[in-house]
Amino acid sequence: MVHVSGYTAPAVIEALAIVGIWILLLSAVTFFTLLILSTSVQAIWMVPFIPTPRAITDGMLDFAELKPGQIVYDLGAGDGRVLLAAERREPKIRAVGYEGAIGVWLLSKFRMWLRGSKVEMRCADFMKNVDFSDADIIFTYLSIESMKKLKPKFDAQLKDGARVVTHAFRVPGMQPEKERLVTMPFGRGSHIYSYVWRKTIHN
Ligand SMILES: C[S@@+](CC[C@H](N)C(=O)[O-])C[C@H]1O[C@@H](n2cnc3c(N)ncnc32)[C@H](O)[C@@H]1O
Repeated sequence: MVHVSGYTAPAVIEALAIVGIWILLLSAVTFFTLLILSTSVQAIWMVPFIPTPRAITDGMLDFAELKPGQIVYDLGAGDGRVLLAAERREPKIRAVGYEGAIGVWLLSKFRMWLRGSKVEMRCADFMKNVDFSDADIIFTYLSIESMKKLKPKFDAQLKDGARVVTHAFRVPGMQPEKERLVTMPFGRGSHIYSYVWRKTIHN
């Protein structure tokens, strides 16, 4: 019989198997807890995590016309892919993402760490106590309802010349400065819109 520091080999294997099973169980419980927490807030907001495809992100970045030193937000940033692409296009921006679903936010933090990115990802509901008054560019991909709720906040807070670039959902009651249908393989496509805030007109 093989002994490891006084323990028999079967006893060591059994102990390792028990530890392995506990690690698996804890990982599964953590995963499902994060999944339930994330899907429940998304159900309340009625906005699931659906990442923006690359071609549409590229179109949104064209509309954004990023410049060094600008402050850029993604409201409902998901895994942070739009801000990562923005940072790749113009590394001298300050990019801040708000994502309220904790599981998705953790995923975004992991992506930022993997890429060595400076994008700041905050786990919070952007409808509550978030001030956008320093924003130069805001990206969104949310829902009709969320855009209705955001419009008065934008009117109250956005500075003159701030730009809001949205995927799929319009800002209600406003004429976009630019609009484009981005076509995708298999006949799918999405509209993107760019709005420029003018204090004199909208306030
Ligand atoms: C359709 S996904 C878009 C993700 C990312 N912007 C993109 O384009 O790939 C919308 C995300 O917004 C988040 N979200 C919706 N309402 C929110 C709120 N009030 N506060 C924080 N996050 C929110 C959802 O959890 C979801 O992950």
